[in-house]
Amino acid sequence: MMKAKAKSPANIAFIKYWGKTDPITRVPQNNSISMCLSKMFSECEVEFRDDLKKDLIKFEGEKVVKDREKERIVKVLDRVRKIGNVNYRATVNTKNNFPKATGIASSASGMSAVTLAGLGALRIKVSKKELSKLARLASGTASRSIPDGFVEWERGNDSETSYAKTIFKPNFWKICDVVAVVSKKMKKVSSTKGHALANTSPFYQLRLQGMEKKIKKIKQAMKKRDFSKFGRIVEDEALNMHAVCITSQPPIIYWDPTTVEVMKRVIEWRNGGLESYFTIDAGPSVHVICLEKDCKIIAQRLRKINGVKEAIINRPSIGARLLS
Ligand code: DP6
Repeated sequence: MMKAKAKSPANIAFIKYWGKTDPITRVPQNNSISMCLSKMFSECEVEFRDDLKKDLIKFEGEKVVKDREKERIVKVLDRVRKIGNVNYRATVNTKNNFPKATGIASSASGMSAVTLAGLGALRIKVSKKELSKLARLASGTASRSIPDGFVEWERGNDSETSYAKTIFKPNFWKICDVVAVVSKKMKKVSSTKGHALANTSPFYQLRLQGMEKKIKKIKQAMKKRDFSKFGRIVEDEALNMHAVCITSQPPIIYWDPTTVEVMKRVIEWRNGGLESYFTIDAGPSVHVICLEKDCKIIAQRLRKINGVKEAIINRPSIGARLLS
């Protein structure tokens, strides 16, 4: 039986991946740092069969799936077929446990899960390092959903040297990412498109110049478990990335009014003694980073904000795994 199922988490970037050196290999312009999320993940089952003429791809719970999304998965299967030296077509059944239409990137969990399930179905064993590289080819952030816990994706020099690895295990630090899910009315500019525009911002080169120092500082803060220092860097970094987005040509504004409302509340709460910091990816949802002891009160407060649909408490988690 050429079948396997994989589970892979989404991840939140504390230092963002924004801009590539090459759109095909997705080798990034800078290292990025993230945490795998315990409550937001994809599960994907792949079965290669000798009676199929083409790949059959299903996203559970969704009626319409864009051709673009299917093609992305077929590309992953093609890569796996090449490695395994087989020509079978496959059925793919994938599902996310979090709402996809709300602007939370699902490519990290989805693309890493399908990569691992595809290899598993053909009983191909590769190292975590190779797996991270393969996932990267499907979606940059997917490379960071392979290793456990707190992760650094090393930019590297080329496709061979660009992959993610664990820098601290999940139990190293009890911090949470409370995701304030904000619905999105307007059509999202895909992050793939956003990456391609990064260099049109007058601030992009400046961003890259400061990167090495910022990464050194945040890793030091993490090592010492200095939450205040860490949080300030995280928030500053999110605003830095979005400053590049809104000054790209054409500009990309990922925020909704509710996004801004949550950002302001987080700062207000902090001034009042409840410490947390926000970060935002390529969508309107806000990730509120806090210490374990404060996560429940923060989730409660977030749920009371108009426009916040849900607040999901995530803890650091392990990376992608085969389930069968
Ligand atoms: C904004 O991984 O979605 O979430 O490589 O084109 O698939 P592709 O891009 P993607 O990049 C999203 C980047 C980000 C920031 C981050 O998570 O580092």
